[in-house]
Amino acid sequence: MNSTDKSEQSVLDRVLVLEMVRVTESAAIAASDLIGRGDEKAADAAAVEAMRRAFDTLYMDGTVVIGEGERDEAPMLYIGEKVGGAPGKGPKIDIALDPLEGTTITAKAGPNALAVLAAAEEGGLLNAPDVYMDKLAVGPGYPEGVISLEKSVTENVMAVADAKGVEPKDIIVCVLDRPRHADIIAELRGLGCGVVLIGDGDVAGVIATTDQDTTIDMYMGQGGAPEGVLAAAALRCVGGQFNGRLVFRNDDERARARKWGIEDLDRIYKLEDLASGDCIFAATGVTEGSLLSGVKRIRRPNGDRVMTTESVVMRASSGTVRWVKGEHKL
Ligand code: FBP
Repeated sequence: MNSTDKSEQSVLDRVLVLEMVRVTESAAIAASDLIGRGDEKAADAAAVEAMRRAFDTLYMDGTVVIGEGERDEAPMLYIGEKVGGAPGKGPKIDIALDPLEGTTITAKAGPNALAVLAAAEEGGLLNAPDVYMDKLAVGPGYPEGVISLEKSVTENVMAVADAKGVEPKDIIVCVLDRPRHADIIAELRGLGCGVVLIGDGDVAGVIATTDQDTTIDMYMGQGGAPEGVLAAAALRCVGGQFNGRLVFRNDDERARARKWGIEDLDRIYKLEDLASGDCIFAATGVTEGSLLSGVKRIRRPNGDRVMTTESVVMRASSGTVRWVKGEHKL
């Protein structure tokens, strides 16, 4: 079966793939008003509201499986909320979303804040609870199984270096700058690796492994589990390997996972376990970043004012990656 046949069978209609960019664009534009304003909550709320409205313009019967929280915690885009303009009629699609991945980044005008979503056929995305996840990722081109959360930091770096034909000291690893990662960072530095410390935004951190321009070879460390599913959806589309394991800090978090149907709490999830079948990943840059440019406001000499956006949309079944530059009249 060729990729065209697969696309025709999938409920993720081709039109819908491109339309997903409108949704992330809307969220990014709304959040961009709050860049550098020191108000994380307002930035997030603006992105959520804009994304919610944009979904209604799409012909689909969508369900949020990863969203802003549970129904009693989030007024909009909560887990289980129906989105889309064709409930009961359009294609049934599960959505994982983060209208503003990098709320602190946006409030502080730092790099790599994104509006992101992943869409899959019903049941295609892991309903990840809002707990931490141990993450390990590499980009495409490595032998299957080159990385594993069952191996130590050193063993993983050695395996990647070996597969790449370089020394461990030539490997560059992206890690969230958190005290909980002190041991990982010390072990990496002991091997002579380059460690790229990011303040926030591990969806962009994981995707950076797939982009040669970033020179980042691996991603390691604990971040949000929902962000892990979003990053896995992107890697399903562009290639790469990912291991994720949920991290529970207390019984309440374990109970939450069981509520979402997760029985094996120690399971190591690979890409297909997190995002299976055909899936779409879409992102628009909010602030300037390695993956995408941020939203820019331009005033033309004639007084016209426009906003520019940069987005990427990818689809797993075809492997197509589209970069979309948008110009929006104000
Ligand atoms: P928010 O946009 O929700 O603030 O998330 C940013 C982020 O850095 C994620 O990219 C990452 O997965 C998570 O927070 C890490 O959590 P913590 O800040 O608790 O270490």
